[in-house]
Amino acid sequence: MRVPNAFALLCAIPAVHGWGELGHRTVAYLAEKYLSSAASDLVDNLLANNRGWDISDGALWADAVKHRRGYNHTGKWHYIDAADDPPRYCNVNYRRDCKPGPGCIVSAISNFTARVNDASLAQKQQKEALMFLLHFIGDIHQPLHTELLDRGGNDIHVNFSNRVENLHAVWDTHIAHKMRGLKAKEGDDAVLKEAAAVWAEELYAANEATVAVAECRDVSTAEKCALEWAEEGNAWICDNVLKPGVEWLKDRRNDLAGEYFDDAVPVVDELVAKAGLRLGAWLNALAAGRECAGFVVQEGERIEI
Ligand code: ADE
Ligand code: ZN
Ligand code: ZN
Repeated sequence: MRVPNAFALLCAIPAVHGWGELGHRTVAYLAEKYLSSAASDLVDNLLANNRGWDISDGALWADAVKHRRGYNHTGKWHYIDAADDPPRYCNVNYRRDCKPGPGCIVSAISNFTARVNDASLAQKQQKEALMFLLHFIGDIHQPLHTELLDRGGNDIHVNFSNRVENLHAVWDTHIAHKMRGLKAKEGDDAVLKEAAAVWAEELYAANEATVAVAECRDVSTAEKCALEWAEEGNAWICDNVLKPGVEWLKDRRNDLAGEYFDDAVPVVDELVAKAGLRLGAWLNALAAGRECAGFVVQEGERIEI
């Protein structure tokens, strides 16, 4: 019998926000392919710990901790609830949709971008900031993480492959699993890591998103960049995710694993590719800024999170 490690146990928490494990690991592995040597060192040094995590394990940490004592408030940072009117009208309005107290994914990306390179913070805090970024730059590319309606589709129950699923989970996990030939409930870390590595390699080879995302990589304007990414994801809500209308989606006679899935495939491929490329560029910019700030690299320090 396979003995689960500590991380596998943490990941067994059922509610996954954002892309599921496959999506997050793929974004992280793809980003890794674009890293400069300075960024690669930054990730290796900050993530270094006694569990031997790779970058994709670091990208899952934010989901694992949000139910832990002291981290409950971080749940709101995984999304921005755009109060628009899909499928008729989609838009994100920062002032309307990101409440200053709890914050949202856009403000979280902005805050944690600043914190990774904040020399006044303990290394543990910088490490947490990095892991939040690895996760949130993935999440912001899941369209339903930029939509208020029915709690980002969590309350829309649909038929996917003759099972009742919620639309949010369909987009977090089920479409990606079907695309990559995985079983609906595939949860084995080793299987998902391998599937993510293969998907990342394919996206890297296809280089699908390169031209589209040469733009936002200025870490000093993180809020502006994150808002642009959120707006892009939110536009897919009207153009694809909720396009057939909530009533059609809820109708159990319509199996979303059919034509709806076929239409979603290129969108998911594009969004995961963009997330990986953008995360890679972001980490490269952070590493460059960190060198300028005169950070001393503390090799191999083991910080328990
Ligand atoms: N909870 C409330 N809104 C949500 C969203 N857009 N995505 C994920 N979880 C949510
Ligand atoms: Zn998340
Ligand atoms: Zn989600």
